[in-house]
Amino acid sequence: MENPPLSVRHLQSTRSQLICYLITSTLTTMNTIEAIHHRISANKFDTTRSLSQAEIQELVQLATEAPSSLNIQHWRFVAVTKTEDKTRLKAVAFDQQKVVDAPVVFIVLGDVRGHEKLAAALEPLVVAGTFDRKMADGWLGAAGHLYGSNLQMARDEAIRSASLAAMTLMLAAEAKGMASGPMIGFDPDGVRREFQIPDRYVPVMLLPVGYASVGNWARKPRFALKDVLFLGHGQDLPA
Ligand SMILES: Cc1cc2nc3c(=O)[nH]c(=O)nc-3n(C[C@H](O)[C@H](O)[C@H](O)COP(=O)(O)O)c2cc1C
Repeated sequence: MENPPLSVRHLQSTRSQLICYLITSTLTTMNTIEAIHHRISANKFDTTRSLSQAEIQELVQLATEAPSSLNIQHWRFVAVTKTEDKTRLKAVAFDQQKVVDAPVVFIVLGDVRGHEKLAAALEPLVVAGTFDRKMADGWLGAAGHLYGSNLQMARDEAIRSASLAAMTLMLAAEAKGMASGPMIGFDPDGVRREFQIPDRYVPVMLLPVGYASVGNWARKPRFALKDVLFLGHGQDLPA
């Protein structure tokens, strides 16, 4: 068949790109919103289904797309998959059964000294020309000022960043048909001890991930919007 003239081909390719874009963006948006609506904290995991190392890596790769203050990326993940290790983890997690039932439990950590690694995070931006050296030095100065001598702030930030990454991981898992169950019911010192976690990392949460089994609770209702959203100012907030 004869090739159509260039202008027609250009139009056709632009049109197919547009259709592709519309389909992809609609699906992406729908998937994200569906994942938000469908996610529940799972208690019951299918013990017959495992996750491959590649799947575990992909989940964490997606989690690292989360935002963090100054792009410090305080999050670290220990992926616990072996039965004997999960059993040790369960013992310091108030015996919560899902810790052994889920194929992987992430110990989500926040690096309290994350800002010390900021120079390494900024360098690729300087090399790429996104930041000039002055901008990078400004961010380093800001990090030192915010976190260098304020341990409380540094700890808050580590927990904030790691929590955002954990939420991103939960939504990624949901979008891939998996289930997750965030947990703060554990003894942080016990987790540190059992998994040889250095002091600079604060255990932020445990996050079992796998496939849901039967018997999980339905989605729990949330407070009404009027109770949580205050437009423009906070004077209507209950004191
Ligand atoms: C930081 C955090 C810690 C939690 N810790 C536990 C836990 O230790 N054990 C547990 O069964 N559920 C835990 N949950 C799950 C909550 O109970 C659950 O998120 C809440 O009831 C709302 O339900 P949903 O996530 O299914 O919407 C935790 C959730 C969060 C966000």
